[in-house]
Amino acid sequence: MQVELRILRYDPERDGAPHWEGYRVESGATDRVLDLLHTVKWEQDGSLTFRRSCAHGVCGSDAMLINGRNRLACKIRVDQLGRRISVAPLPGLPVVKDLVVDMDGFFAKYRSVKPYLIAEPDTEPGTEPGERRQSPRDRARYDDTTKCILCAACTTSCPSFWAQPGYVGPAAIVQAHRFIFDSRDEGAAERLEILADDDGVWRCRTIFNCTDACPQGINITGAILEVSGAIGRGKR
Ligand code: FES
Repeated sequence: MQVELRILRYDPERDGAPHWEGYRVESGATDRVLDLLHTVKWEQDGSLTFRRSCAHGVCGSDAMLINGRNRLACKIRVDQLGRRISVAPLPGLPVVKDLVVDMDGFFAKYRSVKPYLIAEPDTEPGTEPGERRQSPRDRARYDDTTKCILCAACTTSCPSFWAQPGYVGPAAIVQAHRFIFDSRDEGAAERLEILADDDGVWRCRTIFNCTDACPQGINITGAILEVSGAIGRGKR
């Protein structure tokens, strides 16, 4: 079928402001929005700029605003959207060019919550480190938040983030949750202190946009509430 594709274009070297451009693209029965973007770039306008890598919903690099909702272009099929499709960059982040946004601030917030295992070596100096064992039940405690692919669909769908760009945002809290509730980790108190800050979890207004936007189906609002509950208790 033929699709009318509208893309919000912006070239900082040429344009004063973003503007919509339209394309007619032939779509196959199982095509995804990413396939349409490839067709435009490879057959109609090579200057169209967007990110993508794996093309299979793993790397998180092609999140964008598709028909008014943050989604991965490689996961959403054209037949789920219809013949008229609009594509714009993720909202709330500076646009570098066309559909590419500047992710530096997003990743700075991710790093701010110390998204790595913090634990003292459990062996004597000079010996091989032992296994850090964990029961299936303890592993299940944070399973949902291990699924995050850092695509930024959640953070950039959040009105609290749009209004307060300093807000650490749902993605960083999800990443913190993954370690705070890991029974092997010893850095929970540090992370909870970071997230108790003015720009931490209290900025969440439980709007649920983040949960709706997550391509991995993570219960993000639930994870944020678990972290704020742990702050209230003073422990995980
Ligand atoms: S290109 Fe990797 S998630 Fe879509």
